[in-house]
Amino acid sequence: MLETLTPQPQDKILQLIAMYRDDPRTTKIDLGVGVYKDATGLTPVMRAVKAAEKKLWEVETTKTYTGLAGEPAFNAALVGMILGDGFADRAASVATPGGTGAIRQALELIRMATPAAKVWLSAPTWPNHPSIIKYLGMPMAEYRYFDTATSGIDFAGLMADLDGVAAGDAVLLHGCCHNPTGANLDAGQWDQVIAVLQRKGAVPFVDLAYQGFGDGLEEDAAATRKIAAAFPEVLIAASCSKNFGIYRERTGILIALTSPERKAVVQGNLNFLNRQNYSFPPDHGARVVTMILEDAALTADWKAELEEVRQNMLGLRKQLADELRRATNSDRFDFVATHRGMFSRLGLSEAQVNRLREDHGIYMVGDSRINIAGLNARTVPILAAAIAQVI
Ligand code: LMR
Repeated sequence: MLETLTPQPQDKILQLIAMYRDDPRTTKIDLGVGVYKDATGLTPVMRAVKAAEKKLWEVETTKTYTGLAGEPAFNAALVGMILGDGFADRAASVATPGGTGAIRQALELIRMATPAAKVWLSAPTWPNHPSIIKYLGMPMAEYRYFDTATSGIDFAGLMADLDGVAAGDAVLLHGCCHNPTGANLDAGQWDQVIAVLQRKGAVPFVDLAYQGFGDGLEEDAAATRKIAAAFPEVLIAASCSKNFGIYRERTGILIALTSPERKAVVQGNLNFLNRQNYSFPPDHGARVVTMILEDAALTADWKAELEEVRQNMLGLRKQLADELRRATNSDRFDFVATHRGMFSRLGLSEAQVNRLREDHGIYMVGDSRINIAGLNARTVPILAAAIAQVI
């Protein structure tokens, strides 16, 4: 049986992790996978997470199964954090293993409900989006998003392509901090996207993996909240990996907004999907997040640390844009300061990306996506100088 298997294509981002690990150079710099690192290169456990884990060790009396949809308190806390008040009666939800788990469950829900529905993806998008869709054998289409000439949004192209969406199609939107480009829609553009999708009868499917990493915890949820209020049905896949720094705990949620009348049936289908795929979702990270969000002091400390992380990334963006201006004697890379989130796509060729890796030990994804949060004040000038050398 197993002899019929053929090698799978490597995931570009995960492949880079292995290449970086195997590089013996001590001067190497990892700007590949989206993981936050502090100035010392460490991905710290957040203070509130440590405190909640300590308390959990003291108060936890059982490891018996949790609910099939996750602990209701986690789901309620996340729905509140993402959507604010007023959506509880429309929100069916399941806890999932990370944001990827939520994306996967959402796609399976779409396929179960409407097998012919197309899933529209931004060009470009996170490589795992098309990979999972292809694996599930679902119809897929792309809408233009990134303008390589300006490193901003190709808004005319985006609107023209969304005009081709059919009723019942699902349109995957990055709620904030677009991955891989770092270029994001402004409020006026979101309004226009919402209007065209409403006119088309589309189902918005929001991937929200970086809430709190762009313009702030509330600000980063603004587009998702607008969408939630504007459509009868919305899918939201959210991750706690980045904003709580609990990557390996696999903590995420899928929220399906529907009518109060349909909520029980939708919830039952979400529960069914969890049961088919892994039965109960992971509990540890979800429980820690719940403990933080239910405790005013822990919430305040978590928000303060998240804000430090966000400000640090903004500072690095500004520093990198300034250094690149100096090193290249041009404004070509000024966009780095206006992009938001963990990533920016620099607009380098694959050959230039390869030279940065081979000659300078600087690792970034082949499309020239860099993880801003992998930089620090010391490595920014090194990166800028290396880029100036390869372009
Ligand atoms: C990334 O894009 O680097 C992150 O979302 C991590 C991942 O799983 O790819």
